[in-house]
Amino acid sequence: MRGLTLRDALPADRLAILDFCKSTWPDYGDYIPRVWGHWIADTGGRLIVAELDGRPVGIGKITHLSPGELWLEGLRVDPRYRHRGIARAMNLEVLRTVRRMKPRAVRFCTGINNRATRRMAEKQGFRVAARLRYYWQKARKAGVRGDFAVKRDIEGVHDFILNSRFLRLTSGLIAEGWVFREFNRDLLEAYVEEKRVIVLAKSGAIGGVAIYPFEENDGSLTLGFVEGDDASVKVLAKNCMYLARARNLSDCSAAIPSRGYARRIEHAGYRRKDSEGQVVYELGRRDLERLFIA
Ligand SMILES: CC(C)(COP(=O)(O)OP(=O)(O)OC[C@H]1O[C@@H](n2cnc3c(N)ncnc32)[C@H](O)[C@@H]1OP(=O)(O)O)[C@@H](O)C(=O)NCCC(=O)NCCS
Repeated sequence: MRGLTLRDALPADRLAILDFCKSTWPDYGDYIPRVWGHWIADTGGRLIVAELDGRPVGIGKITHLSPGELWLEGLRVDPRYRHRGIARAMNLEVLRTVRRMKPRAVRFCTGINNRATRRMAEKQGFRVAARLRYYWQKARKAGVRGDFAVKRDIEGVHDFILNSRFLRLTSGLIAEGWVFREFNRDLLEAYVEEKRVIVLAKSGAIGGVAIYPFEENDGSLTLGFVEGDDASVKVLAKNCMYLARARNLSDCSAAIPSRGYARRIEHAGYRRKDSEGQVVYELGRRDLERLFIA
């Protein structure tokens, strides 16, 4: 497109970008103002700006979650400049950048009804890795049930999670709201250290486990993993509301595989009307190498 330049973001882009992100989603606004400061300071990935005739009109972020694991987020085009191919051009630049980084996998998450994003992803060869439902909920005051996992629990909890249906349905990913990370022992150790893992015991064994990561973009607590029988899932899902309150957060959320888990957490008080479908897309290293990018 004539007049369109794709370049690294600069601190001076802030005002123009935050201005067009004010009402990205009518009922919500946008989380870009919350994360702009640390995105611009993040040297591990790349924050790309689309500039049209000297004016910033779009952004897209590549984030390094762990060695070889890349996450795409924050794709935005100024509403006044949509439907002209700007997102398409930015996505190509994102893929060129990502390919140079030689990751093991690159992923992103979008709303199930986001037709533009899903269309672009599928044209570029991204595969669906997981379908989930994201719920939001007010924090509530009550006692948390279960025990925080400690170091000596890690082995057992690790095996319990690896063998869970939840992890199979998410292709091995744990939700931090709208960001999904590969589950592995290092991640579990970090969550245990931060007191984000609760275990329910049953007849001397592990009966249920939940992980409650911090959702950085919205500043809330997420139920990012839960496993157990129906009663355990209910207790662990309610815990998220209580833990959020205990940590002085006003909100919590839950990102749960649509199949088999969504209905179960609705029994814990999460309301379907306060939820949205999520789709996580993924490209592996081989897919990236095969990709034709002009
Ligand atoms: C999604 C968004 C980035 C698209 O930006 P854009 O510059 O208008 O998109 P483009 O003009 O490059 O179009 C890209 C593709 O999406 C399609 N598309 C664009 N808007 C669409 C819409 N509202 N519904 C369906 N398809 C749409 C285009 O037809 C095009 O597909 P094609 O290549 O097959 O023709 C922009 O609408 C936006 O900022 N939305 C709000 C934030 C958001 O949803 N971000 C993504 C979160 S994961």
